[in-house]
Amino acid sequence: MQLGIDDLAFATADRYLDLADLAPVHGVEPAKYTVGLGQDRMSVAAPDEDVVTLAASAALPLVERMSEQDRASIRTVLLATESGIDQSKSAGVYVHRLLGLPAAARVVELKQACYAGTSALQMALALVARNPEQKVLVICSDVARYDVGSSGEPTQGCGAVAMLVTANPRLVAIEPVSGLHTTDIMDFWRPNYRTTAVVDGRLSLRAYTDSLSGAWADLQAQGGPAFADIDTFVYHQPFTKMAVKAHAHLTRLVGAPRDAEVMDAQIADSLRYNREIGNSYTASMYIGLVSLLDHATDDLAGSRIGFFSYGSGAVGEFFTGVVQPGYRDHLRTAAHRRLLDDRTRISHAEYSAIVAPVNPVDGGDHEVPASTRNPFRLAAITGHQRLYERSAAAATAVA
Ligand code: COA
Repeated sequence: MQLGIDDLAFATADRYLDLADLAPVHGVEPAKYTVGLGQDRMSVAAPDEDVVTLAASAALPLVERMSEQDRASIRTVLLATESGIDQSKSAGVYVHRLLGLPAAARVVELKQACYAGTSALQMALALVARNPEQKVLVICSDVARYDVGSSGEPTQGCGAVAMLVTANPRLVAIEPVSGLHTTDIMDFWRPNYRTTAVVDGRLSLRAYTDSLSGAWADLQAQGGPAFADIDTFVYHQPFTKMAVKAHAHLTRLVGAPRDAEVMDAQIADSLRYNREIGNSYTASMYIGLVSLLDHATDDLAGSRIGFFSYGSGAVGEFFTGVVQPGYRDHLRTAAHRRLLDDRTRISHAEYSAIVAPVNPVDGGDHEVPASTRNPFRLAAITGHQRLYERSAAAATAVA
């Protein structure tokens, strides 16, 4: 029996900053971002958006496509994030309610920087292996924020991806062998008192490739597929150039021929959406998968994808999946393209006004003015509670 990803969709903010508008503020050429980092735009969360609303927006099309009976078989919701909104209550519980899922379900939030979504996926696979009638909804949702003026600022972004994990999946069957690597390192973290991450950028790049080497070595030790048996690669993309660097690193490590055209073809389609969205932490690698499936001109059915998931701090996992016959019939390519094309370009001044999140710490009552055109929004913070609602745009949500 095959287990894996049966359905897949992403959401992001309805507005973006073009990095050409950030470059002069940092006193650099736009090419530093478009070429040096491989980023053109970054999605900017509206003041009434957070990981809950983005997660619900990503999962809504999946739930809407399911029958009542299929919805009832979602007995687990796993939400991965590193920009959570509560130290106790899982963001997934809000999402579970916003989506109208049945009460007979377990819901939990997972955290390990950008890696946690992969942990959620592996746990989901284990649950489905135990009871193949069950479906697990895995959601990765993050708003990536660095200090204004820091070198990380152009690598911000936000997004969420929702995956339905089932037996006999229609999109990608995940293979059982994984390569793992954990090491205690301070390359990126966010103490509870901060709304932006603390990052040692240089160290994080080295930690990423060290983790890739370690996870790859473990994959081989565990009997995983050889490099030559993997057709395309999807890497975690804090900025898309990082995936290019990672693929060059792995190609060198395994001693494969360094043919630029071949190497580019192995990763290029996975980079397209993230170039326009920016970093979405836990969601970024899986948005890379959506990008690959949505953009590949060849039919990928039967081909093997290598995934490298990295979360600072640091945990890395290399695993593989096989694309399923007929997968194209279940993609949402047009809806995803529309989502990106319909975003509004905002000026640097508009971005500056909303980049800091609504984060009142006085315990008072705060209405949050309606702003996002996405299906769900944060309506108020009152009595220490965050109140979410379905916005008017929900009626026209992509299905
Ligand atoms: N035209 C083209 N490329 C240019 C350029 C120009 N005018 N100016 C600079 N570049 C290139 C640099 O050569 C460099 O490329 P290289 O790394 O391939 O040599 C790239 O742009 C970035 O320049 P650099 O000076 O290294 O950037 P930085 O020090 O300002 O910051 C990061 C880069 C990644 C460290 C920073 O964005 C960061 O901290 N990001 C957050 C952490 C992160 O995402 N870590 C990843 C692992 S999880």
